[in-house]
Amino acid sequence: MSDNRLIVALDFDSMDKVQKLVAELGDAVGHYKVGMELFYAVGAEAIRFLRAADKEVFLDLKLHDIPNTVSNSAKVLTMLGATMVNVHASGGLAMMKGAALAALETAATSGRPRPKLIAVTVLTSLDEAEWARLNCAAPIGAQAVNLAKMAREAGLDGVVASPQEAAAIRAACGAEFLIVTPGVRPAGSAVNDQSRVATPGGALRAGATHLVVGRPITAALEPKAAALAILREMGAE
Ligand code: C5P
Repeated sequence: MSDNRLIVALDFDSMDKVQKLVAELGDAVGHYKVGMELFYAVGAEAIRFLRAADKEVFLDLKLHDIPNTVSNSAKVLTMLGATMVNVHASGGLAMMKGAALAALETAATSGRPRPKLIAVTVLTSLDEAEWARLNCAAPIGAQAVNLAKMAREAGLDGVVASPQEAAAIRAACGAEFLIVTPGVRPAGSAVNDQSRVATPGGALRAGATHLVVGRPITAALEPKAAALAILREMGAE
């Protein structure tokens, strides 16, 4: 059985690359993230392929629009069979509540599983200088916790957050709340454009329930070896 706390980000623009990587990682990885790039390039085909291969699918489209548009989109994404979907918490309480209700009702009426619904707090690529430019009065960490509490109040299952905010979110939102952390970098690997990063062990110790890892696996010379090294580190926690 794969450890589905590891979610590998399929940041590709074609099904060829997806099929190659999924075949290469085999049973080691059971959970994948389909983001904007892949979904805009190939659409629902990516979800169908992964579900047929018995993989969990986190559809990372970060919905952010008026409540009516987001709830209607959440219905469609539930019908597509994603097992986890997300919205931007900064879209507000009504938007998040609408999405949660739409996923619940669509799952109940269609017999499909209800996807876990999580909210993006503050993008892990934003550093203090970028944050200052956004002119938000609260510091990044406080705003991430504030958005996480809003997501919980709206009935969402959890949040996407930086590993550096995971401990404070865990303390504020309780033991059951999902905390999905991108910005995970094994010691000694390239940080790329991420700013608020942690090692796999560090992210889990801080309270993360799932780790999203892209380039440290997808751009590695040996992706399976890279995934297994991360899984070993996770298993040691
Ligand atoms: O390659 P890397 O490990 O940086 O990939 C991280 C993935 O997580 C990317 O697909 C990115 O879009 C996503 N992500 C993120 N920060 C967020 C939400 C999603 O890096 N707050």
